[in-house]
Amino acid sequence: MSHAQQHVLASAIVLAMLVVFCIHVFLFPMYTSTPPARHMKISAYEQALCRTNLKNNIRISASELRNNPCPKYGIVSAMQGGRLGNQIWEYASVWATARRTGLEPFMPRCILKTLEEHFENLSIPPLSYIGRCTLDVGQIVNSLSQWNSTEQNIIIPRHAAYWSLILVWLDDVRREFTFKPSLRLYAEKVLKRVAEKFNLFSPTYVSVHVRRTDYVDYLWQKLKTRPAPVSYYLSAMDYFAGKYSNVIFVITSDNIAWCKYNLRSKRHRISFVSENDGKGPGKDLAVLSACNHSIIDYGTYGSFGAILAAGETVVYNVTTYFSTLIADVLPNWRIMS
Ligand SMILES: *[C@@H]1O[C@H](CO)[C@@H](O)[C@H](O)[C@H]1NC(C)=O
Ligand SMILES: *[C@@H]1O[C@H](CO)[C@@H](O)[C@H](O)[C@H]1NC(C)=O
Ligand SMILES: *[C@@H]1O[C@H](CO)[C@@H](O)[C@H](O)[C@H]1NC(C)=O
Ligand SMILES: *[C@@H]1O[C@H](CO)[C@@H](O)[C@H](O)[C@H]1NC(C)=O
Repeated sequence: MSHAQQHVLASAIVLAMLVVFCIHVFLFPMYTSTPPARHMKISAYEQALCRTNLKNNIRISASELRNNPCPKYGIVSAMQGGRLGNQIWEYASVWATARRTGLEPFMPRCILKTLEEHFENLSIPPLSYIGRCTLDVGQIVNSLSQWNSTEQNIIIPRHAAYWSLILVWLDDVRREFTFKPSLRLYAEKVLKRVAEKFNLFSPTYVSVHVRRTDYVDYLWQKLKTRPAPVSYYLSAMDYFAGKYSNVIFVITSDNIAWCKYNLRSKRHRISFVSENDGKGPGKDLAVLSACNHSIIDYGTYGSFGAILAAGETVVYNVTTYFSTLIADVLPNWRIMS
């Protein structure tokens, strides 16, 4: 290699290093400090939050699409996950997060569809109301704790239950989840029939919700916890029977056959009200909320039933699990093992 060639090579190396240095110092920070705007039509984004195909089974009226101003700031919404119990908490989490932040809440239609079959006073409009607007998907956070600018959207992940935020406005949450008249009537009828069966004019109704089936595996895999033993339900029942008079226990479950076999007790008045195989989750939830007091084990469904009933609640002790943690906040909830 000649001297001149060596000189050119050295210059090239220096130049290349300079370019790499400049990219790191000047260009990369541009990307990290302000993420590039990535706008997506909200109608398409709504579909991405849903498990089911919206086009096939949920129609939007033309009036829903016109004239709705696009939000000035970020919005709050949620991803659909789980069944009725999960979707209730997803909705309530959006409702409470919007109230705390002042951002506008919108729900994907798939979640609204699940809830509107049971409740009549839901105030959050569907995302399709602003379906023609765009959302900056580069500005999305999952929760209040990550949220630091009104430009950011809060999209609550599936299965989330932001319970501590929700419990701040309990009475308003209960008004939001007003059952449809047909379900209220159903619950009234069930309780009346139960009272007649035991010849009591004004009993104290204590609901017992027993979560079995898939939850037994879930508890073990997620929390390394075994399901609540039969003795838990029986001692919770003893507690209520000792405290109130004319108590009737109204038992609901996704596995009512298990309850009929295991929770028979000569000491107490017990009525099993669920249909087989956990059909009619909305009907059972209406019954839970019409009872005076509640015994639950764990999970989103039972804990929301107890919140709606607004009476004294006994919950099973699962350390650091959300349904147990609620008992530390609400004065009329107590933990038993
Ligand atoms: C604001 O939130 C975003 C997303 O969570 C995060 O990347 C950024 O560092 C936060 N900024 C400040 C100043 O906290
Ligand atoms: C329905 O919700 C509104 C607030 O959104 C509340 O003022 C009203 O009392 C609720 N209705 C019922 C029947 O709870
Ligand atoms: C208990 O619940 C029944 C049925 O919902 C209701 O009619 C009754 O007023 C409640 N009793 C009390 C003391 O709240
Ligand atoms: C719940 O269980 C934990 C861990 O076993 C225990 O430390 C705690 O005292 C229990 N709480 C109640 C109220 O039984």
